[in-house]
Formats: sequence, structure tokens, C-alpha cells
Amino acid sequence: MTIEPRVGASRLSPPADLSLSPGEVHVWRASLDVSASRIQSLLRTVSADERARAERSRVQEDRDRFIVGRGVLRGLLARYLDIQPDQVCLSSTLYGKPILTGTHGGARLRFSVSHSHRLALYAVSRDREVGIDLEYRRPGRDETLMAIAEQFFSSREVKALRRLPVSGRAEGFYACWTRKEAYLKAKGRGLSLPLDQFVVSVTPGCAALLHTAWSPDEAARWSLSDLDPGPGYAAALAVEGECQCVQWQWPD
Ligand SMILES: CC(C)(COP(=O)(O)OP(=O)(O)OC[C@H]1O[C@@H](n2cnc3c(N)ncnc32)[C@H](O)[C@@H]1OP(=O)(O)O)[C@@H](O)C(=O)NCCC(=O)NCCS
Repeated sequence: MTIEPRVGASRLSPPADLSLSPGEVHVWRASLDVSASRIQSLLRTVSADERARAERSRVQEDRDRFIVGRGVLRGLLARYLDIQPDQVCLSSTLYGKPILTGTHGGARLRFSVSHSHRLALYAVSRDREVGIDLEYRRPGRDETLMAIAEQFFSSREVKALRRLPVSGRAEGFYACWTRKEAYLKAKGRGLSLPLDQFVVSVTPGCAALLHTAWSPDEAARWSLSDLDPGPGYAAALAVEGECQCVQWQWPD
């Protein structure tokens, strides 16, 4: 997968006539910390169900970030569908993957969402499945990260992490985590696909799906790549087949 631009800070502002060809994936980065007036305007675009879901969070910051995350998702899907954000009909599969329904349910648009701390990432594609994952790198000791790896990753991934120099282990851990999550999201099956039954590379900068327990052809079907969402974050993208990834910054 080719990625433009590589550097988070130099992300492009989208052109007015945004078009998405089947050979492209668009990745959008948005800040979840926006002004109170912006939150109010996004609140007007979300559904009653989404407002109710936000209300169930006890923490105001979480409520606001959920509304911003959903509001931006609606805003960007609306751009591709050429409709208003409040006309975007969203539902989710039995496994929790959000999908377009209603008039646009049959549309060829596919998307994936991830949020962590103050940022959200969105991947949008046409006719090909896509998954994205973003993690805020919380300060932690290497032993803690390795304990998490041993609990969730495959034994091959844990061995590969141990082979990395100590100085690169935290980066390898987050690379592995986000690649696994991005692939899970592209598959859309959530944790019903056991995390220890597929293997991704752990070396920073060399993203790949290496093996799955369920199909010898699976690794060749998917492209994985690392993204650079900005300082303190790690992110990865999984896409069916080969394509070009273009990154945009969502205007606040
Ligand atoms: C829910 C899950 C999809 C990701 O959750 P997460 O990484 O905590 O949070 P993210 O923000 O990155 O992703 C949440 C978004 O994924 C999407 N999502 C939920 N279920 C999904 C599924 N089955 N397929 C694709 N996308 C899904 C939704 O858009 C959701 O956002 P929303 O709740 O605002 O609609 C799931 O994979 C999970 O619980 N992962 C944690 C598993 C774990 O312990 N991993 C350890 C290391 S790999």
C-alpha cells in the first residue's frame, strides 16, 4: 500500500471536489477536543439513539468526545454521499461494526473508525473492506506491555517482540496491537476472531499480516500499513488488496 503523505503534521486539507476511486483509501484524522459551540452544532447532526448513547456516559468529556466522533463520521460520510450529515443512516452489525443502512445501505462505501484520547481516525474506501486502529501510547513499563502481549498476542508475536532491542519494544508492542486491531476491524467480526489465532509482524515500519489459523490465502488478501497520527499515538490500517492511501485532516 502506498501512503501519502507519510508525516502526520503535513496532512492535506481535502479539496472541495472530493472523489474516492476504488483504488484509494482515504484516511481522515480529527481532533475530539473542539469548542463548546462546535459540539453543539455536531449534536444537532446525530441521531436520538446516538444522543442517548452519549448520555449513558457519566463523564462529560466522554459524552462530548462520543458526540464529536459521531458528528465527524456523519459529516465525512455525508460528503461522499452528497447528503446532509443528519441524513446519514447508521446501524451496526451483530458484531458491532458500524454500517450504512437505508437508501445508502447498498452504497459501495466502506468505513472504519477508531478513537483514542484526543484523536479519531476514519478510513473510507469503495468496494473493499477496511479497518483502522489508533492507540494513545500511555506511559508504561516494558514488563507491563510484555505481560499484556503474553495475554493477548500469539506466541509467535510474543517471541518476535522479545527479539526486538529493548529500546524498540514499546514501539513494537503498539505496532503489533494496532495492526491486529485494524485487521479485526476490517474483518468486522470483533473478538469472535481469537487474537492468538492470527499473526502480524511486530517490526516497526514493516506492517504485514503473516498468518491466520483459518486460511492459507488470508495473508495475501490483506495489506497492512502503519500510519503516523502524531506524537504519542500509534495507528495502523488494514485494507483488502492493494491500494493507495491518502491522508486528510478534518477541519475542526
Ligand atoms: C471494539 C473493538 C472493535 C475495538 O475497540 P477499541 O480499540 O477499544 O476502540 P476503537 O475506538 O479503536 O474502536 C471502536 C470503534 O470500532 C468500531 N467497531 C466496533 N465493533 C466493530 C467490529 N466488530 N468491526 C469493526 N469495527 C467495529 C466502532 O466504530 C467503534 O466506535 P463507536 O463505538 O464510536 O461506534 C474491539 O476490537 C475490541 O474490543 N478490542 C479490544 C480487544 C483487545 O483487548 N485487544 C488487545 C490487543 S490486540
